[in-house]
Amino acid sequence: MAREPYVSVNFSASQPGRRVSQKDIVEQLSEEIASGRLRPAMRLPPVRALEHQLGISKNTAQAAYDELVARGLLESRLRQGVFVSVPADGIPAAPVRNAAAPRLVGPDLPRPQPVRPERLELSNVFIDPELLPHAQLSDCFRSVLAVPGLHTFYDAQGHPGLREVIAERLRARGIEADPDEVIVTTGSQQALDIVARSLEHKVVATEDPVYSIARQLFLNLGCRMLPLRLDPFRRVDFDAWAEQIAEARPSLVYLITSYQNPTGYSYSTAELERLLELSERYGFALLEDDWGSDMLSCSEYRPTLRALGGRNVLYVNSFTKKLLPSLRLGYLLCSESTRDVLVAAKRVATLGNATLMEATLHEFISRGYYDAHLRRVHGLLDQRYHACLDLLRDGMPPGVRFSTPGGGPTVWLDLPRTIRIEPLRERLARRGVFIESADSHFYGEPHLNGFRIGFAFLSSERLQLGVRAVAEELVVLSAQAGAAPLQPIQIRN
Ligand SMILES: Cc1ncc(COP(=O)(O)O)c(C=O)c1O
Repeated sequence: MAREPYVSVNFSASQPGRRVSQKDIVEQLSEEIASGRLRPAMRLPPVRALEHQLGISKNTAQAAYDELVARGLLESRLRQGVFVSVPADGIPAAPVRNAAAPRLVGPDLPRPQPVRPERLELSNVFIDPELLPHAQLSDCFRSVLAVPGLHTFYDAQGHPGLREVIAERLRARGIEADPDEVIVTTGSQQALDIVARSLEHKVVATEDPVYSIARQLFLNLGCRMLPLRLDPFRRVDFDAWAEQIAEARPSLVYLITSYQNPTGYSYSTAELERLLELSERYGFALLEDDWGSDMLSCSEYRPTLRALGGRNVLYVNSFTKKLLPSLRLGYLLCSESTRDVLVAAKRVATLGNATLMEATLHEFISRGYYDAHLRRVHGLLDQRYHACLDLLRDGMPPGVRFSTPGGGPTVWLDLPRTIRIEPLRERLARRGVFIESADSHFYGEPHLNGFRIGFAFLSSERLQLGVRAVAEELVVLSAQAGAAPLQPIQIRN
């Protein structure tokens, strides 16, 4: 059985600069007992605890306790310790204390559910765990741990070697970057966090729909939000955007410029240029989230705002979707003039991040494992992406649309308005196929009627099972809705 904790009593020496004496202990404990601060049956500190804390001899402490036992104030129980004496009429009930609960307000997020790879999760945006280089990462981690004393401290901006290889990789993609402009973060999420908390004027525009936890983050940090409508099946309506921007005057526009989450939309070069023109005209900064780069072949060659618009564009990316989600490693590319305030924002939150993880990733990239991993993953994910498009093209009834992002981990599937997503979700769940509700990505009533398909998460066979189930349920639901029936489908095996 666990031993009962002892009460802590603070003793002071009656003679300044001297040790606490036997008399001091006797007087001060008597006073505590008389005042009721020490109650019957409370356990006192063991003699060796007093010896250790007060720097007195064991004998002094023991003699003080013996005297209080003799006076009837304490009682000594064999092998249990010394206790405040219990009166003959028993122990009075101790007051029940209940600390006040903290009053919290927080983001409107459901409790996170663990990812269960055995479930057929059709909307999961992670990469299939089967494709990850676990053995090589373990090897790098072991070799990092074997370096004696090297990683005792941390660099608040992030592991310098890792910043260097990140900058080098960005330059190879045509993005000007210096290691000193790279801040290593706990996933892209921390990059978004430190930008948002550093904004002087907290009005932020995002796409609508948007990566929902970014929106929740901005709201949580007190930002006023401006939704800019995005429809992956049309061009961006920049006239409408410009009008909204001119009125609300956001200080920051957050955009996922390639393979947008959740729609899979990628901005054309002309659209990126239009955005830069608006940034110049209305004076808002740009925060570019490149979450889906490097997952499929060719995807790293997409144009970026950062490459087209220069060093004021804040650019974030992470290793979550292409390497290992649990590494929690991402980065923010800023500029010499914005770096210090952004690093300070990171420092007040975490001081610095886990250098051992950063060093492991540095080792992994430096050994050439990352490039080899990407080459392998590109081949496999290209196949899954094309299998996904084939399944949708061949298997979905007319009236169903889907985006063709060519990168990132997801395709947006858009259904005729006669189909309601919630009943579809329920019916699919009963068959063991899970799709997400996309509502949280929208600011209000969704102007799209669909959900994400995460083609990187599932093998082609499982994806086929999932898509087949969706198609079958669509036929049933459209018949129930009394709409012109969607055609039964044939999926090629
Ligand atoms: C568009 C986008 N940006 C950023 C993040 C944050 O991811 P992480 O912090 O793992 O890099 C996510 C997560 O799903 C995302 O979808």
